[in-house]
Amino acid sequence: MSVMSDNVRPASMARITTPALADAFIGEQVAALRARLGGKRVLLALSGGVDSSVVAALLIRAVGRQLVCVHVNHGLLRKGEPEQVVRVFRDELGAELIYVDAADRFLDALSGVAEPERKRKIIGKLFIDVFAEEAKKLDGIEFLAQGTIYPDILESGPIKSHHNVGGLPEELNFALVEPIRFLYKDEVRVVGRQLGLPEGMVSRQPFPGPGLGVRCVGAITRDRLEAVRESDAILREEFAAAGLAGKVWQYFTVVPDFKTTGVTDGKRTYAWPVVIRAVNTVDAVTAEVAELDFALVQRIVRRITAEVPGVNRVLWDVTPKPSATIEWE
Ligand code: XMP
Repeated sequence: MSVMSDNVRPASMARITTPALADAFIGEQVAALRARLGGKRVLLALSGGVDSSVVAALLIRAVGRQLVCVHVNHGLLRKGEPEQVVRVFRDELGAELIYVDAADRFLDALSGVAEPERKRKIIGKLFIDVFAEEAKKLDGIEFLAQGTIYPDILESGPIKSHHNVGGLPEELNFALVEPIRFLYKDEVRVVGRQLGLPEGMVSRQPFPGPGLGVRCVGAITRDRLEAVRESDAILREEFAAAGLAGKVWQYFTVVPDFKTTGVTDGKRTYAWPVVIRAVNTVDAVTAEVAELDFALVQRIVRRITAEVPGVNRVLWDVTPKPSATIEWE
């Protein structure tokens, strides 16, 4: 069960492929969490991704408002995501949720920073700072929950790179609670569905910790970031309408930091291009470009150029990995 100290999935653990198996897992975990936590409070950084959402839902079921969720909006989330986290967890599931709008702090810290790895470091460090600030305001927290899953343990040790709570200040040295640490991603999704999380949350495509920050190429500006966010929302909407959500592994838009000429309503424009990337992969080590219906592509191009301010051109990235990475930075 959850409180295993070793890092090897027990051989006796059946692969969770059905609602009945998910129910059994949920029952065991709820009992184990209640036994371990007693009446103590537990803290969770809730990004709204599949893993942290499933951990939140499990803990809400086990210990209700002993769980304190902190959702840090770093301003680099996709359109509608922070609102969905608040709606699902605070309004529908009744969780204790602290929502921190830190967008200005992140964008100020990132101002003028063009180098991808520096951008990642700034985002990662500030995330920990903001989370730690919130944690310090709370009394009686003894546990820290994390959405570590089995591939995280197999690949890089138990601490998730983005929510790198291993880097928390020492005075916030809580005992770790990792109830889904032996699950594979497909099992996490089955459990999430069984816990009643919305399908859009459970079947979400992978989203990098630095979020849209690595899709707004070079130094991030607020207007170009909005172009990334709006074009991404249109792409996701059109993929969903075409029945491709959950079928294509990862799809997103990128806005480079250069402009090209165009013409709209008979007037010349000088505006950004939007790049579309849609790939399939098994393990993200290599990836193939998804083959899409050209009518869908044209519809997306029409909508992006008509609806996204500051954009006059759409490019399609047709490069597999290798030679390109999936993300642009
Ligand atoms: P690349 O671009 O290296 O991406 O081909 C492989 C997968 O990893 C995701 N990715 C990240 N995830 N933090 C994350 O949590 C990051 O800094 C990061 N960079 C890339 C990427 O979205 C893809 O799924």
